[in-house]
Amino acid sequence: MSQTLKAVRGTRDLLPPETALWNRIEATARDVFARYNFGEIRTPVFEDTGLFARGVGEETDIVSKEMYTWEDRARAQSEKTQSLTLRPENTAGVVRAYIEHGLGESGLLQKLYYIGPQFRRERPQKGRYRQFSQIGAEVIGPPSAGSESPLRDAEVLEMLATLLDELGITGWTLELNSVGSAADRARYNEALRAALVPVVGQMCGDCQRRAETNPLRVLDCKVAADQPIIETLPVIADSLDEESKKHFAAVTAALDAAGVPYTRNHRLVRGLDYYTRTTFEFTHGGLGAQNALLGGGRYDGLSEMLGGPRAPGIGFAMGEDRLVLTLLAALEQGVVAAKADAFIAPLGEGMNAAALVLARELRHQGLWIELGEGSFRLKKSFEAADKTARQIVILGEDELQSGILTVKNFSTGVQTKVPRGELAVFLSN
Ligand code: HAM
Repeated sequence: MSQTLKAVRGTRDLLPPETALWNRIEATARDVFARYNFGEIRTPVFEDTGLFARGVGEETDIVSKEMYTWEDRARAQSEKTQSLTLRPENTAGVVRAYIEHGLGESGLLQKLYYIGPQFRRERPQKGRYRQFSQIGAEVIGPPSAGSESPLRDAEVLEMLATLLDELGITGWTLELNSVGSAADRARYNEALRAALVPVVGQMCGDCQRRAETNPLRVLDCKVAADQPIIETLPVIADSLDEESKKHFAAVTAALDAAGVPYTRNHRLVRGLDYYTRTTFEFTHGGLGAQNALLGGGRYDGLSEMLGGPRAPGIGFAMGEDRLVLTLLAALEQGVVAAKADAFIAPLGEGMNAAALVLARELRHQGLWIELGEGSFRLKKSFEAADKTARQIVILGEDELQSGILTVKNFSTGVQTKVPRGELAVFLSN
């Protein structure tokens, strides 16, 4: 026998009834985004590798270790080979689309959301997959549209608090920080570089490399032995200029006014290079090691890094897989499959076509119908019906002629004769 094939490591099949929970999360997100006046954007699942190298940053773990990249062969002489990558995140793609379609030319703020798969070659574990789904949003536009305003940051964070509440996720923590302007970051990088000189020799190989190329990334290090050293390094708050401090103070003042709770985390610099000023994560204790439900921040220079016009922005992405894990943990019996309104049981194969007609009639009236099969003995029909539907409708020669059908309700055990014309109303009650 040949070996059976399985889903690739780090990827998963999502099956009913759990997919109903995914759909509910997405419907709630779409509803909240609509109320905050966001529109949906769908960008391609793969992009030119250069987009992520320039946007997310060569030295980040995502770009240096985790991307699925391949050389796309030329199919014609006029075509060149191109390095392509499955998107590890969606912000770079959204900003590319913003530039490509001249969305800034309207002079208005663009408020865009997306729901879709992302790909990172990470070590799989609970809450961490190689294909995972993000629900994210970006607010981006020319400075004249108010895209730099701290109000935009506060509105996005307030929307996230609302969305998590409406999803039924309680017990989250909002961790907030500011990584300052590009100039602040350059100053901080110098301070870090200097502070690292005497200690870096005792740190892991990755940190030794990062200390040279991009010292900020040292703060992402997860190696336990390095943590006491990292604790002694300078914090970015001390390198912020007056403008960045004022911006951050305005964000927190608006959050205080709206009653959104947060804590300041000085080490929250995030693992992507495009961030400026506000950075944040919402964490949840129930998730274990992979405790970030979502992350995001401001990226005032990203459009220019990608060759576009000045277009400050702020956004976030939620890990949908982690939202599902959090909600499943709160449901005592897991997701219970919803049952159809009725199961139609044809008595004998000769009644199959008539049963299909009856099912079509009822489905067109909005009922949720499971269709049985006439070769089933009545006992088998009852067993199947009891598992999948709230009621069973028997359709035999007599019922077809008389137009009076027998309906049995499984929860009450009551059997009722119902005229065909009244069946839809009866079944839906
Ligand atoms: P990120 O922090 O890399 O940010 O990812 C956002 C969220 O995606 C994480 O908090 C986590 O919930 C989820 N996530 C990331 N990797 C995995 C994985 N391997 N398995 C399951 N879930 C995962 C970004 O992607 C930015 N683009 C967010 C953003 C938007 N910043 C500004 N705008």
